[in-house]
Amino acid sequence: MAQTIAVIDFGSQYTQVIARRIREGQVYSKIYHFTTPAAQFRQDGVIGIILSGGPSSVFAADAPLPDRGIFTLGVPVLGICYGIQLFGHLLGGTTAKSDHREYGHGTLTIKRPGRLFAGLPRKLRVWNSHGDRVIKLPPGFQSIGVTENSPFAAIEDRKRNFYGLQFHPEVFHTERGVDVIRNFIVGVCGARQDWSMKNFVAQAVAEIRATVGSGRVILGLSGGVDSSVAAALIHQAIGRQLTCVFVDNGLLRQGERAAVVDLYNKHFHIDLRVADAASLFLRRLKGVTDPERKRKIIGRTFIEVFERSLKSIGHADFLAQGTLYPDVIESVAIGNNPAALIKSHHNVGGLPARMRLRLIEPLRELFKDEVRAVGAQLGLPREVVWRQPFPGPGLGVRVVGAITPDRLEILRRADAILQEEMIQSGWYWKVWQSFCVFLPVKSVGVVGDERNYAWVIGVRVVESLDAMTADWTRLPYELLQRISSRITNEVRGVSRVVLDISSKPPATIEWE
Ligand code: XMP
Repeated sequence: MAQTIAVIDFGSQYTQVIARRIREGQVYSKIYHFTTPAAQFRQDGVIGIILSGGPSSVFAADAPLPDRGIFTLGVPVLGICYGIQLFGHLLGGTTAKSDHREYGHGTLTIKRPGRLFAGLPRKLRVWNSHGDRVIKLPPGFQSIGVTENSPFAAIEDRKRNFYGLQFHPEVFHTERGVDVIRNFIVGVCGARQDWSMKNFVAQAVAEIRATVGSGRVILGLSGGVDSSVAAALIHQAIGRQLTCVFVDNGLLRQGERAAVVDLYNKHFHIDLRVADAASLFLRRLKGVTDPERKRKIIGRTFIEVFERSLKSIGHADFLAQGTLYPDVIESVAIGNNPAALIKSHHNVGGLPARMRLRLIEPLRELFKDEVRAVGAQLGLPREVVWRQPFPGPGLGVRVVGAITPDRLEILRRADAILQEEMIQSGWYWKVWQSFCVFLPVKSVGVVGDERNYAWVIGVRVVESLDAMTADWTRLPYELLQRISSRITNEVRGVSRVVLDISSKPPATIEWE
């Protein structure tokens, strides 16, 4: 049985981050709902428990409380934020109610390093976000660290191996927080650090098999990282019980459809159906210039085409999606509901309910970089694993204004040149996104002795961590020059190339 660190979820937006930190320490972690009976943890081979934070007050009528049996399992427990208040509340100390939340940085002064703070400096900047606070320690506990505002910022019961932290060690803003968590899972719980993405794959494969049984699974493949990794993973688990549908909406980049067919069909031998719907999409988009209307038409048509292809496939039991953790909005429903759930960003929004398909989302606990690691583990090529994001509406939002087949073709050719130069120079892998935009503006140029009245192509290359903010990439002039001269020379109908030097905000990454 895998050594497991249980993270009990009380609704913190950081629960998944805790789980991720544990995985980073090469230890397996599993998130449990706060109502999980203590016996379950023993059955699952749990060697340590972390009580997550949460937005509730322990005094609320519907405060989420764990099974008290977890305190007599004989395994170490680390309570974070709401978790430390549970210690105070449930183990015989006093937790005081507070009307306002303490929020922001503080300085932790470590009084006794012990095993939790082994190897760390005596003072650490830590991140707080809490309402209630422990004001009297439960029997057996002592303070091991203080902050400006709290004599009980870090507490320990050495005998029982219980630790409490008022601050959040899992967040980036807490200095050496990763080491605190590692000290707990390795130093205190004694976890062997032998878990890896290889284990994740093996485990996910077993879980998919158990869930699916002899059922049939369908998956909408976009060719992007998430759906590609989900497809490869599910295929590894159930082979030909998986059917993938790739919708050609006519808004794809040059060679994209062929590349998808080559990889999944010829290389992975996945049952892949291509729905050829380019003319339907383009017909519906004819004359539409408003970006939001374009998106709506593309989204609606996608669902329609997808549904139609499902019908032609016949019976299916499950719909698979490459939903990642960041797609799951951390909105929290405490009470009868599971804690941190759920709004998936469905590329095929609304489909599962309507089609009575059960949903499988094997990547929903992972972060993007972990998904890439899984993809690499499954043998997906670098071009797929490290592919730049591409919007669902595709070139539909990169042809500014009305979309026509001619404009799409010009954009495709220009964009292919840009990608080629980016890949060849190695810049493709260093930036967040690099793409061309078709601008519905004609400008004058000269070809030979003749004036040439032709279109303008915009080049957009940005760096970003999460697409929330972005800055334009300072590409070398020589590279820009090559991109520009190749586009104007090789793409008929283009007389001018402009570089977008706007950051986000105030601009967005895409033009529409
Ligand atoms: P913006 O343009 O809002 O883009 O700065 C942020 C990120 O989201 C992508 N994007 C989309 N993705 N459907 C998608 O699936 C869309 O309608 C859409 N619009 C923008 C964009 O490429 C960037 O990575």
